[in-house]
Amino acid sequence: MSGLRLGVLVSGSGSNLQKVIDASLIKEIESKVVCVISNKKEAYGLERARNHSIPAYYVEGKSPNYDREVLGLLEQHQVDVVVLAGYLKIIPEEMIEKYRGCIINIHPSLLPKFGGKGYYGIRVHEAVLAAGEKESGATVHYVDEGIDTGKTIIQRKVPVYSNDTPEELAERVLQNVEHKILVEAIALIEKEEAK
Ligand code: GRF
Repeated sequence: MSGLRLGVLVSGSGSNLQKVIDASLIKEIESKVVCVISNKKEAYGLERARNHSIPAYYVEGKSPNYDREVLGLLEQHQVDVVVLAGYLKIIPEEMIEKYRGCIINIHPSLLPKFGGKGYYGIRVHEAVLAAGEKESGATVHYVDEGIDTGKTIIQRKVPVYSNDTPEELAERVLQNVEHKILVEAIALIEKEEAK
């Protein structure tokens, strides 16, 4: 199995992207990141791609041709699976259609809790703490027409401590869960494709 061609979309630091690149380099997964696209020029995820000679593209998020440009790049790189890794734009219908069942997203909560419109980044963890939850975690799911509503692939938990700050909880979820389950989800998809 030669693995899958992964197109990764990022909007920020790209630490999840880095874990996928690292896993690919040590053959923990067969798949390869073949392009990285961001709607944010300053996204460090683009730098991480360049550090590994992976084609990295900034597409102005407000450009009227944004969706078409992103789709064009995914086609140009013959992407099999689109990975949303800390990506903060809504996926257009056309991309959902073209890549149905082949777009995955990582969200830093135990979906369906604390998902959907307005739940992203630190806001997720603030809401978890405000709700008095005793546990949180992250979810990798397929992307459908909704926001954070597609079929779950993997979900894993961490404890929430009463004195947690949102930043402490975010770090625990990122380090202990996100950085592991995204790679595990790709490995599961590889196995499915190999059947
Ligand atoms: C992560 O918590 C991710 O789930 C959220 O953005 C945070 C940073 O991700 N969407 P990354 O370091 O850019 O991968």
